[in-house]
Amino acid sequence: MELSELDPTYMPRHVALVMDGNGRWAQQRGLPRTDGHAAGEEALMDTIWGAQEAGIRWLTVYAFSTENWKRPLDEVRFLMNFNERLLLTRRDEIHARNIKMQFLGRRDWRVPRRILKRIDETLELTKNNDSMTVSMAFNYGGRAELVDAVRRIVDSGVPANKVNEKLISANLYDPTMPDPELVVRTSGEIRTSNYLMWESAYSEWVFTDVLWPDFRREHLYDSIREYQQRERRFGGLAAEDA
Ligand code: IPE
Ligand code: IPE
Ligand code: MG
Repeated sequence: MELSELDPTYMPRHVALVMDGNGRWAQQRGLPRTDGHAAGEEALMDTIWGAQEAGIRWLTVYAFSTENWKRPLDEVRFLMNFNERLLLTRRDEIHARNIKMQFLGRRDWRVPRRILKRIDETLELTKNNDSMTVSMAFNYGGRAELVDAVRRIVDSGVPANKVNEKLISANLYDPTMPDPELVVRTSGEIRTSNYLMWESAYSEWVFTDVLWPDFRREHLYDSIREYQQRERRFGGLAAEDA
């Protein structure tokens, strides 16, 4: 799908992606799983630039989940180094394109200090950029995010009867982030894997068989096209029946 084939008056503001299938992509080629993660870099960059071209204001990508620590140590270590190198080599270009970087996740002891430092530098570098926000969900889990929000709310001493949906949203990792209208998962897996649980409550989900390293902006546009053909009801009735 070309960008020109999309309806410019009905674009999602926020698209979230589950970048899945790297391991299978590598296995299909007789390569180690980690080669699949490396090949995902091009997919990510093309998707970011393509989203920017389409005027998407928020793009969130699932880079490492709170459950991914269960993987073999070598793979975890590879993913940590890979994400650090990605930040180091790509942040200037991201900054030059006026893109703000954001991180969603737990800054706990398992994340090497070095990476937290790179993250902080990148946040600082890009903080005033305003063409779009690219959020990396890194050491991210939807349940962990809710637990962290509840902890903050309890710590602040808010009485129980003042807890509402707005307050919970305001205590998530990025309170300024709008809910994603569209969540795309690659590689044919049809589950959420603890991604943006609260934020995606009413998102349209699109599942594609494309493995993440093969994903390009055209696939993003295909997903947006599918979103544009859906009817969002939010529990109400279709416009023509209301
Ligand atoms: C997604 O690819 C990347 C991460 C989870 C970090 P996978 O590594 O999950 O690839 P598959 O699902 O095993 O093919
Ligand atoms: C979700 O993919 C996490 C990321 C893409 C970072 P997984 O491959 O970890 O999810 P499961 O294990 O198939 O549910
Ligand atoms: Mg996977």
